[in-house]
Amino acid sequence: MGLIPQEVISQILDRASIVDVIAEYIPLKQAGRNFKAPCPFHHEKTPSFVVNPDKQIFHCFGCGVGGNVVTFIMKQERMDFPEVLRILAQKTGVAIPVSDIRNNQANEIRQQILSVNELSVKYYHQALLSDKSEIAKTAREYLKNRGLGLESVVKFQLGLALEQWDGLLKFLRSQNFSASFLEKAGLVIAKNQNDGYYDRFRERVVFPIFNARAEVVAFGARSLDQNNPAKYINSPETPLYTKGKYLYGLNWAKDAIGRQDAVIVVEGYMDFITPYVAGVENIVASLGTALTVEQIRLMRRYTKNVVMLFDADPAGQAAMLRSLDLLVQEGMSVKVAALSPGEDPDSFVRKFGAPAFLQCVTQAQSLFDFKIKVLLKKYSSGRIEDNAKIAGEMLTTIVKFDNAIVQAEYVKRLAQVLMIEPEALSLEMRKVKPIATLMAADGEPSRKLLAQQIRPVERSLLRLMLEEKDFIPLSRRDIALTDLQNQHVRDIVAKIFELFDKGCDPTVTVLMSCFEEQGILDMISGIVSSEEFIAGDRQKIYRDCTLRLRQENLKNQRQDILRQMEVARNNDDHKALEELSYAFNQLIKGS
Ligand code: CTP
Ligand code: MN
Repeated sequence: MGLIPQEVISQILDRASIVDVIAEYIPLKQAGRNFKAPCPFHHEKTPSFVVNPDKQIFHCFGCGVGGNVVTFIMKQERMDFPEVLRILAQKTGVAIPVSDIRNNQANEIRQQILSVNELSVKYYHQALLSDKSEIAKTAREYLKNRGLGLESVVKFQLGLALEQWDGLLKFLRSQNFSASFLEKAGLVIAKNQNDGYYDRFRERVVFPIFNARAEVVAFGARSLDQNNPAKYINSPETPLYTKGKYLYGLNWAKDAIGRQDAVIVVEGYMDFITPYVAGVENIVASLGTALTVEQIRLMRRYTKNVVMLFDADPAGQAAMLRSLDLLVQEGMSVKVAALSPGEDPDSFVRKFGAPAFLQCVTQAQSLFDFKIKVLLKKYSSGRIEDNAKIAGEMLTTIVKFDNAIVQAEYVKRLAQVLMIEPEALSLEMRKVKPIATLMAADGEPSRKLLAQQIRPVERSLLRLMLEEKDFIPLSRRDIALTDLQNQHVRDIVAKIFELFDKGCDPTVTVLMSCFEEQGILDMISGIVSSEEFIAGDRQKIYRDCTLRLRQENLKNQRQDILRQMEVARNNDDHKALEELSYAFNQLIKGS
């Protein structure tokens, strides 16, 4: 969101009417001050989806989903935040300033790289289709042997870098691109001692890498020589291309991913292409590394359900483990599939066909089962320390589930597997992450549950701040963010303070424009839409809230220490017991 200043966002939100926009998608019926409709985000007969023109937000009392005009369009059109803002800016006549000249120049360079990439794709593609050289014949034969017909070569715009040092260079210079610019675009490399340039890709099959809008952002290139140690080489980072920000195949797969509400993530180019051609269309490739947050957010626009299908070799497994925690943390629902040993998706589909492949995908195991198996194999001596290590690594994953009930369930299962007391695991879990976060990770029911899991005192305080600006500076003075237990309430309050300090009016819809996480939007819309009325002397309610917050926190801390003392006592751990009772006394003295 960085590039668009907050004032401009506020201005756009001010002018765009949420009722008009949503009415373009679904029929709205007036109901008092509000408007109602059947919810477009879950299946229902009686309308519980409410659009509130005063606060400029929507909220569904059925599934708990909420947001403002921007997030509504984002969800409907699967666009990202800046894209929607640009559209709304145009509709409402608000100019989005280009923050400075440099920015303009950067944009210009990115555009030029896009066009030079476009030309290069054509150049390589033409060479693959019709060049007469020996290597071109070899390349065509190679692709045919890998099961790729002409149709696929055209669809994926595959190409060939010939056996030349400057084929592309010469071609692009004839199109008036300077060599130094081509170097910036990652297509050519400067020789030592300023002695000219040469093509980066030579004697390789070229895979153009597209972004979700089907623009070519970079290239991968596979050696035709079995003995070349660099099997694949790729474009370097350029002003246009950052590694780990794209998913290979997303431009072709996105519709199927949305339709099937699931995505299969594989490693390599061919692992995407072969299954896709065989009819498995909801698939993308990470291109040989662990998934990044950007890649995960990219797929989250289309679905939350991920099946990971990485190679069974150590590198693949390591990349997979690193990806899993990140996926959970980003609120995705993850499963792990495996193929027969020694196969990757490309070779498997060619040998056994797409139905057998889908069979493996259906049999994907849960993240929990997968990770515990890996760990049991890794730490298999049967010593106590092994158990502790397994518990530790499992807990780092478990705490990333933003749902207390899911966490509790996994702790129970982990305790069973390791044959230890669940209480001991719960204690360890607190060490890994002291504050339980209560956000939903998966699906509708937990969302609802979540809203109920805010303590009433945090809920009331937040509502007061959202309804009356005067309570913002007061709260800033009276409470610390650490007094708030619910991580999302914390994030929201921190943002309210920040906006307030910057002199921006933190209205509900402006506040919503600061968050991407759906759970947070749902929480805000849920709180301000609820019918419960804060009646009576608000000043007094405020004072009661802050007082109660402090008291409850002390009580929680006391209970926490008592629980730990209980465990220490059971373990005859005198030293811990002593430290804990000291801490307990300090706490009582302080209150
Ligand atoms: N990769 C890469 N650079 C390398 C090796 C691999 O960028 N030196 C990426 C490529 O995107 C590759 C993926 O990692 O497709 C998976 O690598 P690997 O499993 O080694 O190759 P395959 O995809 O199986 O290659 P192929 O089927 O063409 O032999
Ligand atoms: Mn392969």
